Amino acid sequence: MIEFDREKTCFFLNGKNYSYVMAVNGVGMLQHIYYGKKLSSSDAAFLVKTHGEAYAPHADDPNYDMQTDMMPSECGSFARGDFREPTVVIERADGARMSRFRYLSHQIEKGALPLQGMPCARQADETLIVTLKDDFSDTEIDLKYCVSDASDVLVRSLAVRNVGSEPVQVKKAFSFCAELPDTRRVFSALRLTGAWGRERAPVVSPLSEGVLRLRSSRGYSSHHMNPFLALIEENAGEERGECYGFALLYSGSFALTAELTHNGITRVQGGIGDEFFSWKLCAGETLETPQAALCYSAQGLGGMSRAYHDFFRTAVVDPKYVYARRPIVVNNWEATYFDFDNEKLFAIIDEAAKLGVDTFVLDDGWFGKRDSDTSGLGDWTVNENKLKGGLRAVIDRCKQRGLKFGLWFEPEMVSEDSDLFRTHPDWAIAKAGVEPCRGRTQLILDFTRKEVVDYIFEAVSKILRENDISYVKWDKNREMTENFTKDLPPDRQGEFCHRYVLGFYDLAKRLTEAFPDVFFEGCASGGGRFDGGALYYFPQSWTSDDTDALERTKIQWGTSILYPVSSMSCHVSACPNHQTGRTTPFATRGAVASLGATGYELDLTKLSEEEKQQVIKQVENYKRIDELILKGDLYRLSDPFNSNYFCEMLVSKDKSHAYFVGVQFHAYPCDHERVLFLHGLDAEKTYRIKELGVTASGAALMDAGLCLPHLQDCGAWTWHIEEV
Ligand code: DGJ
Repeated sequence: MIEFDREKTCFFLNGKNYSYVMAVNGVGMLQHIYYGKKLSSSDAAFLVKTHGEAYAPHADDPNYDMQTDMMPSECGSFARGDFREPTVVIERADGARMSRFRYLSHQIEKGALPLQGMPCARQADETLIVTLKDDFSDTEIDLKYCVSDASDVLVRSLAVRNVGSEPVQVKKAFSFCAELPDTRRVFSALRLTGAWGRERAPVVSPLSEGVLRLRSSRGYSSHHMNPFLALIEENAGEERGECYGFALLYSGSFALTAELTHNGITRVQGGIGDEFFSWKLCAGETLETPQAALCYSAQGLGGMSRAYHDFFRTAVVDPKYVYARRPIVVNNWEATYFDFDNEKLFAIIDEAAKLGVDTFVLDDGWFGKRDSDTSGLGDWTVNENKLKGGLRAVIDRCKQRGLKFGLWFEPEMVSEDSDLFRTHPDWAIAKAGVEPCRGRTQLILDFTRKEVVDYIFEAVSKILRENDISYVKWDKNREMTENFTKDLPPDRQGEFCHRYVLGFYDLAKRLTEAFPDVFFEGCASGGGRFDGGALYYFPQSWTSDDTDALERTKIQWGTSILYPVSSMSCHVSACPNHQTGRTTPFATRGAVASLGATGYELDLTKLSEEEKQQVIKQVENYKRIDELILKGDLYRLSDPFNSNYFCEMLVSKDKSHAYFVGVQFHAYPCDHERVLFLHGLDAEKTYRIKELGVTASGAALMDAGLCLPHLQDCGAWTWHIEEV
């Protein structure tokens, strides 16, 4: 609910458990007042008087601009006394850069605000738009706040508008500025960091004076740093204490900063990466920034994660697919890599059908001249030398066996050894006269150019139109370099990276709209583009190229801090594992993969009879629990980074049933019994745990706990918990 107090010029935003308060102060600036536990708007006068006036510049002081450095602001200005990192920087036509943003007007609208050409929250109850005017340039800024009564996520973005007659250069335009002015509190900063094969590991460090900057300049959100930052109050933990989350719904190069200043105020902001950015804004034009999803939790990290999971499910992921049963796929990548023919694929398809798998996904290597990663990208026509009878033969085989068919594409890329590159060498991102950087021996297509996006749309559409394909895996396997397009003049090259992302979103929108019955899975060398922007188009993403079950416990744990388990593709793969060389029990691989959109990534024909029986059981189990995967609340119980166990459970919203997965990494002789306390159950209800044959109250399971089993190295167990 959004309320405006005209007398106090105060905006009071209330979500499910939080309040967000700001007011226009005596010098006409929009000052941040409060963000935290839910309050009543009847306290607005008190908040404005005490918290507001303590930091407000004094209008009668001729030096008041200098006081803005102390003021919590909704939009940090530049070169006028606020010396912290600015939110928006505008360069006028005469080269001067200075800004003082003051309140001009506001409006409150019903519902969410669609963003042209970018992912955005599909729903909200109300949206507040506060318009600020820059005193020193002909620009206005719309600050947007989308509020939902039943959510702890506040969605923010801003737009910069040129209301003058001359162009300006926007040198920086972050999506939001949020201040945490409560100087009593000490925060730690959590980020999800890593690299290829070990994505989204949570790293926490104390926040201290200076600027913490999380960033990607790779052209996509990246394996290395997810576009997410959480500030955790001292003493907060998995299920207790306060924390604030800041997540970008954006897939490109980004920056998120947290600046703790001399007066104890923390300014958090972020958006499009500002390092190479500038945007020429001509008279009458508006630049929209991507949305950011802010979350307040008084129930620790677990509470924050569950609020984000609900937000992604209700407001971001395509409603057609979000609660639809996910296909259980077998993907041939780790089974064959590029080395396949009809016989190999048919054998996998036949076995998949016997074991109850739903969909066969044909990965890289089916098109153009593609027997390795050095050629063929861009030539989206089937290689009939490799696949006799073309895709039709494979699809027919799937149909005969009752399976659906999925196909891999890498639409944004081109190999130099390809017909597409030979015909259109200038379509690849490169600067004439400069040797381009190669990544996986490939170049990136210049998606800032409409003709390139149009061509790829048509090439992919042709395959999807002419074949019965129900699933697409959309991959992307290199980082962006050069950051240059021949189509833009020099004073617009700073727009390149963001324009590329807009081109990617354009293609994703057009393909998903043109083929609404095709399920799209995202991928970027594993989980390199696992972000809230991609989730808008792709309901799930390949979580990591590391398919080792033990490594996956960490990757899935970290990913779940922000993203729902239903968004993670999790496959059982062969052992010794191709990435780590480790051998884990088949049951452990199945248990870990069941905590997501499950599937298989191996040659099913090479499994032993006993393993095949396990696959049949895993598929049956998954069909029993997939409702919990799609809709349940996640409780993380034992942290694989800091303990010998990984334990997570999913609880139904009505708390009538739950599914638990545990993994023990090492077996120790004489290890003392350890007790695990369940979470999220109803203390008053009575539950039965089938595998243990025990019946107990929710209170006992949560407060007295259960003893962890003693297993061999890498052993796993599952519990199905039902209300009786
Ligand atoms: C990277 C992906 O993460 C893999 O799953 C596979 O699709 C390969 N690319 C294919 O080149």
